[in-house]
Parts: sequence; structure tokens; C-alpha cells
Amino acid sequence: MSNQIKQKAIEEINQANDLKKLEEIYRIYIGRKGKLTKVLRSLKDLSEKEKKEKGKIANQIKQEIKQMIKDKEQKLFAKKDVNDKKEWIDITAPGIKVPQGHLHPITLVQRQVEDIFQSMGFSVLDGPEVETEHYNFDALNVPKDHPARDMWDTFWLKDLDLLLRTHTSPMQARYMEKNNPPLRIIIPGRCFRYEATDSTHDVQFNQFEGLMVGENISVSNFKAIIEEFFKQFFNSSDIKVRLRPSYFPFVEPGFEVDIKRKDGNWLEIMGAGMVHPNVFKTAGYIKEWQGFAFGMGIDRLAMIKYQIDDIRLFYKNDLRFLKQF
Ligand code: FA5
Repeated sequence: MSNQIKQKAIEEINQANDLKKLEEIYRIYIGRKGKLTKVLRSLKDLSEKEKKEKGKIANQIKQEIKQMIKDKEQKLFAKKDVNDKKEWIDITAPGIKVPQGHLHPITLVQRQVEDIFQSMGFSVLDGPEVETEHYNFDALNVPKDHPARDMWDTFWLKDLDLLLRTHTSPMQARYMEKNNPPLRIIIPGRCFRYEATDSTHDVQFNQFEGLMVGENISVSNFKAIIEEFFKQFFNSSDIKVRLRPSYFPFVEPGFEVDIKRKDGNWLEIMGAGMVHPNVFKTAGYIKEWQGFAFGMGIDRLAMIKYQIDDIRLFYKNDLRFLKQF
């Protein structure tokens, strides 16, 4: 009898998976009205000898069951503790910082350029990186056999009869075809040239085109706008700028602009000039307008601003470099 009770009790103890169930088992077997307690009570009617034998076994079983319940209780307690700990939140503990990316230095510079020109009344536009020969060259007064085409080594998409734009200037032609003066726009974007790289040249780089056309726009307007831009961009009125006469088929006169770097060397930052009458003509303008255009290197601006001596660092994706911005 006692052994049967024991087997049943062991089974139930093993199956019990919470403390409440264990308490119930204790009550059923060992409690005041428990099965084993009843067995022990019933012994009083037996002979002295039987009482001794059976009593011994029943008491032993009672102790065993008690011990098993105790052991299981400890196990369940330990489990509960782990679960409690898992669910516990220390709301005063400092949070774990999720590492966040940030903008590339070229993007930072581009956005600052856009802000400054917008504050001077310029609209910001976008243009295609894959261009037609017509807009990259012909519409800009660079006919097919003109030696000036050699100024821009080009990636041709031969089968498609297209090319990767070598500058942002094609957007001058595209925009003027559809819009009449007065106009003030800038067009930032990526450009590509099939040329050897060095510390100031890469095969891809960023420019922004500037175009301002109206009744009486002159070189003085260009100088004033550019000076104001540099003042705001470098947060200094002490930027040394040099204008050199230069040749671009789509301007007349044309010049290049250099900025003095901290190390005393000059760095060419843009080509510029007064828009050539042929470009206006191709765009379909009948009236005589005047305006200036320029194409400035965004990478070069970033190099001067952050004192970076090699343009290729921008495209290497080395986190030790990028994390500095
Ligand atoms: C042009 O691209 C002309 N479209 C600029 C222009 C626009 C002139 C409107 C007149 C009127 P240029 O090839 O000089 O010009 O390039 C202009 C600027 O782009 C350079 O001064 C330089 O800052 C940047 N640049 C040119 N080539 C590279 C290159 N390979 N890597 C990095 N920056 C470059």
C-alpha cells in the first residue's frame, strides 16, 4: 500500500512544474488528511509486530517523499529566480547606445553649399549622370571635331550612344531650353572622367554648376556672389582667392578660380565665365541676355575646409577616415 502511494507520489512530484502544484502534492500525501498520514493512523489497529514493521516502512516513505518535495521545491525556486531576473528591468541603468551612421563629408559640404545658395535666391536642381553627347558637348558650343573635347576624357557607353557626364554644365543647356531668364540655379552632382588619379583628381568627383542669367548680369555680380559664398562656407572673410584667365568654349571671357590652402599652395576650385552667346542661341533665346556660369569642385571644397590632402580618401570607405566627420 505504502509503496504504491510512493510510486504515485514520485510520479506527481516529477511532473510538478510550479510551486503551487508541489504544495498540493504535499497536502495530498503528507498533509493532515494526506494519504500517508492516513496509512500511519490506520496502523494503531494492527498487532505490535505489524505496527512496528509497517510503521517503519511508512515513516521511511514519508521522509523520502518529504525530501523529494523539498528538493523539487529548491529546483523550482531556482528556476523562478532565473525567470524573475530575466524579466527584471532596472529603469535607472544607463541605456546601451546604438551606433548610428552619419553623413559623408561630401554630402555635408553639398548640403551646406545648397543652403548658402538658396539663401541668395538660387534654386537647387538635379540632372542626369548619364548624358547625351549633345548636352555634354554640342549644346555647350563644343562641336564634334573641336580640340576642346580633349579637355574632358570621357567614359562612353558605346552601344547606347551615351556617356557619363564629365561636368554638370549640360544642365545649363537642359534648363535654359525650358526656362526663360531671369534665372538663378545651382546643380550639384557626380561627374566622371577617364583620367589618371592623383591627390587632387579622381575618376569620379562632385561638382556644382551655378548659373545666373538676367538683363545686366556681369562679372562683378559673379565676384560678389562667389565672395559671399566663400565667406559663409569657410566662415571667414579672410579667404585668399585668385582669378586666372582660362578657356572654356561655353563662356566668353572664361577664367579659373584658385583658393590658397593653409599650406600656402593654391588649389584650383572652379572654372567660370560669362555665358557664351552661342549657348544662349542653342537654348533658343532670341533676346540678348547676359549671365555667368561656373562649375565648382565639391570634393576640392571639402579638401580645403577639412584640410584633406588626398581626394581619394573620400572614396576609400576607410572608417578611420569617415569617423572624423
Ligand atoms: C569644368 O568642368 C567646366 N564645366 C566648369 C565651368 C562651368 C566653366 C561653367 C565655365 C562655366 P573643369 O574641368 O576645370 O571645368 O572642372 C571644374 C572643377 O571641377 C575643377 O576646378 C575642380 O574643382 C573639379 N574637378 C575637375 N576634374 C576633377 C577631378 N578629376 N577630380 C576632382 N575634381 C575635379
